[in-house]
Amino acid sequence: MASVTMTVNGKSVSGEVEGRTLMSDFLRNDLRLTGTHVGCDTSQCGACVIHVNGEAVKACTMFAVEADGAEVATIEGQANADGSLNVIQQAFQDHHGLQCGFCTPGMVMSAAALLKENPTPTEREVREYLEGNICRCTGYHNIVKAIMAASGQDVSAIAAE
Ligand code: FES
Ligand code: FES
Repeated sequence: MASVTMTVNGKSVSGEVEGRTLMSDFLRNDLRLTGTHVGCDTSQCGACVIHVNGEAVKACTMFAVEADGAEVATIEGQANADGSLNVIQQAFQDHHGLQCGFCTPGMVMSAAALLKENPTPTEREVREYLEGNICRCTGYHNIVKAIMAASGQDVSAIAAE
């Protein structure tokens, strides 16, 4: 077992993990942060996307020990300080960017990373960035629309699905 200490959503946390413990399992099982979803465990679906030191990472592709000392952000830390939805979350709600919601935490975390590096992406850039995030429900159209709306762009010309 190894000791890990990291900052998660602004709070310092510690734990004892095995070397093989996935970051996704540490978050969900040890920290009870179950907003990070696990759809595949094999780096395919993107439901587990978190930010580690500001970079979007699939939490099932890293070991918890690799996050020792890191700044981690999960979907639980994305709301505004008053508990209201942040601009991306609100846009998903406004533009029907989710149905069952299973993919949504990963989509929101990927969108946040995209908008940080590219504040006004084109539709194509959004679609390309989301290549690693699978949604089985929405057909992606409204997710793309929501992310473009969250970036402040006029999405009235993008047809709803
Ligand atoms: S659970 Fe990590 S990519 Fe699917
Ligand atoms: S909303 Fe159901 S998987 Fe995306």
